[in-house]
Amino acid sequence: MSVLILGATSPIANAAAREYASRGHAVFLAARDEEAASVLAAELSEAHGVEVGSGRFDALETQDHAELVARVERELGALEVALVAFGDMGDHDAALNDPAAARRIIDVNYTGAVSICEAAAAALTAHGAGSIVGISSVAGERGRQSNYIYGSAKGALTLYLQGLRNRLHPLGVHVMTAKLGFVDTRMTEGLKTAIPIADPADVGRALYNAERRGTNVLYYPKFWAGIMGVIRAIPESVFKRLKL
Ligand SMILES: NC(=O)c1ccc[n+]([C@@H]2O[C@H](COP(=O)([O-])OP(=O)(O)OC[C@H]3O[C@@H](n4cnc5c(N)ncnc54)[C@H](OP(=O)(O)O)[C@@H]3O)[C@@H](O)[C@H]2O)c1
Repeated sequence: MSVLILGATSPIANAAAREYASRGHAVFLAARDEEAASVLAAELSEAHGVEVGSGRFDALETQDHAELVARVERELGALEVALVAFGDMGDHDAALNDPAAARRIIDVNYTGAVSICEAAAAALTAHGAGSIVGISSVAGERGRQSNYIYGSAKGALTLYLQGLRNRLHPLGVHVMTAKLGFVDTRMTEGLKTAIPIADPADVGRALYNAERRGTNVLYYPKFWAGIMGVIRAIPESVFKRLKL
């Protein structure tokens, strides 16, 4: 049985991979940077004495996604979990004047995620078991002027995962949506906020525990469920005047 980690160079992905490996799961680390994935795989295998494979994965190269899943199953056995952990916030201001940049944000965060989830879903439904974990964001819950291109792609991903969960449930496959708040990674570098920023190691642990419990939707840190409840409740006539 194998656990496929997509976007393995993310500290969140790496922390989640450690959780699975430390409990004896064979893990495949897939990342855009094949060399970095191979170094991380060697470290993980050495630390936990499990089989760890690695290989190239680019969200934009959708033609290769089905073959990646097939390769993981050939090398490490039947797919058990696919963790979709890649994402790219891009440069929002640049994307406002550059359709190609806007499209790239949408394609990495949404189109690429749909493509690899469907490839994983085909393998998992053939076994009638397993989980897909998609990392979405609280940014996908309400459009804000500062990041609505990335936010809308994550919002679409959240909706997609909801439909996928609905389709796969009777087939024995579970789908979990992780709505993350601020986490201390490259994505939040330089961010000034009064809201606490989560440690990637804690996020990895929370993802693992929630996936094992069969959670449908995870907010992490949990207080974001409350924050987003308040943000969603603000009437549009007020919200459009806010600088967020
Ligand atoms: N940090 C936060 O506050 C936060 C909040 C909500 C949700 N999230 C989500 O959490 C997930 C992990 O992000 P992170 O915070 O750990 O940020 P990160 O350190 O920037 O990691 C992002 C990961 O996505 C990969 N990636 C980017 N473009 C890709 C592409 N075209 N194909 C394949 N992989 C690609 C990156 O690969 P490279 O190393 O090659 O760049 C990296 O592994 C993402 O889905 C992100 O949207 C993060």
